Amino acid sequence: MNGHIELPSDNEKNGKIISFINMKGGVGKTTLSVGIADFLTHYREESNLKVLLIDADPQFNATQALLDSYFDGDYFEDILPNEKTINKLFKPQVQFSQQYKSPFPDEMIVELSDNLHIVCGDLNLVLANKSSDYTHVKRLKRFIKDNSLREIYDLIIIDCPPTLTIYTDSALMASDYYLVPNRIDRYSIIGISSLQKAINNLTGEEDIDLECLGLIYTILDDELTLKQQEMKSNFESKEEVQQIYIFTGYTSNVKDIQIGKQGPIPTRYKKSRTDLADICAELLDRIQQGDNIV
Ligand SMILES: Nc1ncnc2c1ncn2[C@@H]1O[C@H](COP(=O)(O)OP(=O)(O)OP(=O)(O)O)[C@@H](O)[C@H]1O
Ligand SMILES: [Mg+2]
Repeated sequence: MNGHIELPSDNEKNGKIISFINMKGGVGKTTLSVGIADFLTHYREESNLKVLLIDADPQFNATQALLDSYFDGDYFEDILPNEKTINKLFKPQVQFSQQYKSPFPDEMIVELSDNLHIVCGDLNLVLANKSSDYTHVKRLKRFIKDNSLREIYDLIIIDCPPTLTIYTDSALMASDYYLVPNRIDRYSIIGISSLQKAINNLTGEEDIDLECLGLIYTILDDELTLKQQEMKSNFESKEEVQQIYIFTGYTSNVKDIQIGKQGPIPTRYKKSRTDLADICAELLDRIQQGDNIV
């Protein structure tokens, strides 16, 4: 494990920060964030980008998937005991007399490869959420700012949990954009409505500049049944959804992601790689449009 993080070079980047979020569970947020991070750093034919994935979910599934593929050491032996996880930002302060200082990148970031780095998730976040002072909510944003991480990474992807917690608020406050993975089912709209409410509350209270990058359909079957088509058009007719850009790219239902020998990372499967190539091109295009995004 090498903790050395490359310092900004002359041609500094101006990385963007995106939260992958939906208040509905199991829609493919983690799989998509891991897939996009891996595709952009290891599979893109044009020059590869440098990506930091931040796992803000106490379930830490993104961490498990990526460490299994790219990390020689052991999470429970090499990472957790050293608190080299996102929990460092949220644990209760022991000495109140000391002024808070952001951790250095080396204290939190694990290098998986030259271009793909991760801030690991941590089960202890479940506990921290209960005891954390809400003032900690800006620490993720500060960690990124104090260490000029935008100058190091082209993209910072935050995988969020499906619940409203200090972590989702922290992620959104640190982000330029949020991206909504969405699976078509009867209750899809509930996840979007709750998300919109949460975001409106946050932007109403805090001075943050957060835009929706769009919605990506996930785990689509090759052909939608009539019932699915009906649910999709019903979903898209809702006011909340009509305000959102819907990506042309989507992820297909690839059963191997759940049971395949190559594990849960979608880039390992040809069909998913093709999906990710389209999604990544569209995503980078959307980011480049920048200010024009509604
Ligand atoms: N494209 C896909 N094809 C087939 N299965 C998929 C695909 N994407 C995700 N899955 C499976 O769907 C399930 C949920 O995916 P995932 O964990 O990414 O969702 P999530 O939204 O992050 O869940 P949570 O809300 O619990 O964080 C997992 O079993 C995953 O392997
Ligand atoms: Mg998840």
